Amino acid sequence: MQSRGVTLEEGKERSSQSKPFRPLRLLVLFFALCVVFSVISIYTVKHFGIESMVTTMSSNFQPCYYEEPGGLDKWIRPPLSLIHNMSDKELLWRASFVPRIKDYPYPRIPKIAFMFLTKGPLPLAPLWERFFKGHEKLFSIYIHSLPSYQPQFPPSSVFYGRQIPSQVSEWGRMSMCDAERRLLANALLDISNEWFILLSESCIPLYKFSFVYHYIMKSKHSFMGAFDDRGPFGRGRYNENMAPLVNITKWRKGSQWFEVNRKLAITIVEDTKFHPIFERYCRPACYVDEHYFPTMLTIQAANVLANRSITWVDWSRGGAHPATFGRNDITEEFFNRVRGGHTCLYNNRNSSVCVLFARKFAPSSLEPLLQMVDSKVLEY
Ligand SMILES: *[C@@H]1O[C@H](CO)[C@@H](O)[C@H](O)[C@H]1NC(C)=O
Ligand SMILES: *[C@@H]1O[C@H](CO)[C@@H](O)[C@H](O)[C@H]1NC(C)=O
Ligand SMILES: *[C@@H]1O[C@H](CO)[C@@H](O)[C@H](O)[C@H]1NC(C)=O
Ligand SMILES: *[C@@H]1O[C@H](CO)[C@@H](O)[C@H](O)[C@H]1NC(C)=O
Repeated sequence: MQSRGVTLEEGKERSSQSKPFRPLRLLVLFFALCVVFSVISIYTVKHFGIESMVTTMSSNFQPCYYEEPGGLDKWIRPPLSLIHNMSDKELLWRASFVPRIKDYPYPRIPKIAFMFLTKGPLPLAPLWERFFKGHEKLFSIYIHSLPSYQPQFPPSSVFYGRQIPSQVSEWGRMSMCDAERRLLANALLDISNEWFILLSESCIPLYKFSFVYHYIMKSKHSFMGAFDDRGPFGRGRYNENMAPLVNITKWRKGSQWFEVNRKLAITIVEDTKFHPIFERYCRPACYVDEHYFPTMLTIQAANVLANRSITWVDWSRGGAHPATFGRNDITEEFFNRVRGGHTCLYNNRNSSVCVLFARKFAPSSLEPLLQMVDSKVLEY
């Protein structure tokens, strides 16, 4: 159409002789240009690599994207800041957005979201820094602390600026589950996060990052502790008013320190059915943070649960609280004992690697723990 417009405008100066040749000549010129451009671009890609072209382009254009995101980038890059003023209701709604097409239209590198549920400081942060070093593309960090707590991390720290808008939460109460959902929801806003691990300030990693990443990536199951305890501290906490939505045969108990994949994380944040029931009928001495997620997921997705936690904790000393380890407990034998001596199912096979994290470690354990890293007992 356009070429005809040009011919009409140019019609006046055209001699009868050149009339049949002009369009042909333009066409030939056009094809010649096409060939030249293809050759140039193939040459450039071959010699400088697509990647370097793309990186130079994106680094040049980044400021523009951030001011006015127009392309796909707007949907796939993580939020610039974790600060937002969404209410929980708004946040959970936003976090429940799910793409319906399964394949991502770009090379997505799945990340692990490490979610720290703390009162305030992270005394073992230097240990975690060693663990994370060199794996920046494969993880993101989220911290939920008391709202009054002012973090002191330097800008060079992996923990810098990773606090999410938080609220007071109490052990054994629904406010604790709400904090966990708030962590999940904030982490879901980054579409690259594929696995979500809940940790406390007293947790440590037992293996190096690449090992943890592969163990979780290759697992067919999510590591949510869920077991049917028929005694007074299990089924004994069930309230019949929860039926028929929650049948006692599906009532489960588990430690709150879970790992879930993106799909289960969304199941947890989108829940409006079980939440009110648990909030109403599971109150101390029913400790809701031990029952809500394990029971709800057993009802909705039992076949993808490993039914065990990947965070080791020592209840052998008895009492209401697990053992806390300090300076004098940290030895090579200690880690051999914690990492060995278990068997469990991993992808339906017997495995001797059953836990990837351990708790509880007191601040006094930091120095000997760092020595364990230096002496390669902990191989971060
Ligand atoms: C959040 O902040 C925006 C302006 O930045 C304001 O319009 C909105 O009302 C605020 N929302 C809440 C829930 O405070
Ligand atoms: C719980 O489920 C069992 C079968 O799985 C059924 O027989 C029983 O009636 C259910 N209980 C309630 C309270 O719905
Ligand atoms: C976990 O328990 C559920 C029943 O609650 C079961 O269906 C599922 O297969 C178990 N998972 C594994 C890995 O055994
Ligand atoms: C795992 O080991 C136990 C013995 O400890 C054995 O009874 C069981 O059959 C094994 N399971 C698998 C899947 O190999």
